[in-house]
Amino acid sequence: MQPNIQFGVDYYPEHWPQSRWETDFAMMQDMGIDVVRLGEFSWFKLEPADGQFDFGWLDDVLALAAKHDIHAVLGTPTAAPPAWLIAQHPDIQPVDREGRTRYFGGRHHDCQSNPIYRDYIARFVRTYAQHFGKNPTVIGWQVDNELGNSHGGLCYCKYCQRHFQKWLREKYQTIENLNDNWGTAFWSQGYQDFSQIQAPKITVTGENPSEMLDWKECHSDLINEFHAYQAKIIRQYSPDRFITHNMMGFSPVVSYYDLGRQLDFASHDQYPSGHFLADQNSFRGDRCAAELDFIRGVKQQSFWIMEQQTTITGWEVMGRLPKPGQIPLWSMQSVAHGADAIVYFRWRSSALGTEQYWHGILPHSGIPGRAYREIRHFMRQTKPLLKEINGTVPRAKVGIVFSYPQDYAIDIQPQHPDMTYVDTLMTYYKALYRRNVAVDFIQDTADFSQYELVIAPLQYLMTPALADRYAAYVQAGGQLVLTMRTGVKEANNLCMTDAALPGKTLGQVLGLTVPEYDCLRDVDVVIDWAGQQYTGTHWADLIEPTTAEPLATYGSEFYTGTPAITKNQYGQGTAYYVGTELTDALADRLVAGLPTVAAETIATPAEVEIVHRDTAAKRYYFVLNHTGEQQNITIPAGWQAYFSDQDSGHLAPYSYQVFTEEQTN
Ligand code: GAL
Repeated sequence: MQPNIQFGVDYYPEHWPQSRWETDFAMMQDMGIDVVRLGEFSWFKLEPADGQFDFGWLDDVLALAAKHDIHAVLGTPTAAPPAWLIAQHPDIQPVDREGRTRYFGGRHHDCQSNPIYRDYIARFVRTYAQHFGKNPTVIGWQVDNELGNSHGGLCYCKYCQRHFQKWLREKYQTIENLNDNWGTAFWSQGYQDFSQIQAPKITVTGENPSEMLDWKECHSDLINEFHAYQAKIIRQYSPDRFITHNMMGFSPVVSYYDLGRQLDFASHDQYPSGHFLADQNSFRGDRCAAELDFIRGVKQQSFWIMEQQTTITGWEVMGRLPKPGQIPLWSMQSVAHGADAIVYFRWRSSALGTEQYWHGILPHSGIPGRAYREIRHFMRQTKPLLKEINGTVPRAKVGIVFSYPQDYAIDIQPQHPDMTYVDTLMTYYKALYRRNVAVDFIQDTADFSQYELVIAPLQYLMTPALADRYAAYVQAGGQLVLTMRTGVKEANNLCMTDAALPGKTLGQVLGLTVPEYDCLRDVDVVIDWAGQQYTGTHWADLIEPTTAEPLATYGSEFYTGTPAITKNQYGQGTAYYVGTELTDALADRLVAGLPTVAAETIATPAEVEIVHRDTAAKRYYFVLNHTGEQQNITIPAGWQAYFSDQDSGHLAPYSYQVFTEEQTN
């Protein structure tokens, strides 16, 4: 159901006079645009008063799109309920952790569990999908917008509290069971009844980690159910159309794995230099690559970019202006990691509202400039390529496990103030990225045997079943990397007590125990690897090997000389344990010694990336120069230049080249 579409724009005709629309569509057609996303914030214009629908203007927009051979993805506008609805039912507005109502005037001023809001949504979406669902111009749908965004603080209203109680009742059945799983013996937190449980607003001091983990899981489920509620109506009235959603990389609010199961394919919003980044000047190519790989991992298939940065971004303040070449380069990076279609945000810079400085392909004036020229050239050049590789992904031999519960639990108790789940994952990802080794992000339920190497950082919450799966993988010949803080807790976020860390099974797989650990507050630790010194940070596990051999030892603190990184043969495979947080040089040293990584490495200058997608017959290599200088790579024998003017391996600043190679196996 993923149509062969290559390029699109997010278009907001409601921001412009109707007399302009035809010009816009003519310009889009001339540029090579195949699709527009429409409507995801237009509720007031579509239902200007309670029960009075005005779809005529959108009919006109779709007719103009069709006239110019352009398709449409329609968004449901439920991230922006209109003022009349809020005035009638102010309860729809969300309540934050401090108990304050968040009012109308921005967007996302809604509570997703509010039953009255749900009724209005059902009526709107039904009417909307009935009207537009079979329009031949409409090829797909997006429910709401960036679900989880702006609900980062979640909603703590009475409806959410009731929802939480219901969710807990279903999960635990009895209040005694909940008390056991939440460890409520501590600080006299026992409950007699589910009705006593509150949405976890601010406390005087401290929080119950088990309760907080359930709250996060419950909220993720609520958002998924909110999506399902709308998707069901859309599927009923608009059969044979796709439903996708614009995700936000590693955003930690909603499980995209769960959301992905509802979608025909995943989409992602990619803003490499969004204005919200504190550091606008440092290299982010690796982080952008990881988020794209992660979105590919949501369904293990190719995806769309639903919002790709077009030029300078900003709300109240702005980010840096992309340099010549960067916008096509970032677009090509999205393609290289598995995007089949690139939809640019937005067609034209808005003269209105909060996002006046989140610029589009056209500036406020509507006069095409550099962004327009660069994107048009990119589209013309790459359209045939995108058609050719539609639906393909790389064949990766390395999998990195990404798990939402682990992310939630580390967020609840980072243990070291600077430790985050994603940053720890990124230390491994970045080292692989520097070697141009293809990586899949995988769930901890994935078939590990498809990968030669599985890296599973911070497996903090552990179940016997998961430990057994890791053991079986290594036993059968896999290479596994586990790290500090593995096996610390049970799935309910209570500490494991039946064995020394990292637990019985994993202790055998890794050939060690961890009787003590040191949280490296305001200090790093020296790591000695065969006479070379490196730095470990944040954490130091004090490791007692049983059968493991040390690869590196600590070179400072009272545990100098004891193992920091180990390797253990287990069955047919090898299990590595990393007792500290890796700095870049140390991560490089570790991954370079892993057999699969050594075999897959392609050397390039720093910040020059090579990534691939595979068809049955060919491998497509994308060489991306993220630096502001010319870079040279040696083109291996057997690589054919895809674009006739790009066969040199000499890459201009912020440029890309594409090569193909016949597949031999
Ligand atoms: C995205 C969002 C868009 C727009 C854009 C620029 O996160 O989906 O609607 O707000 O950012 O701020």
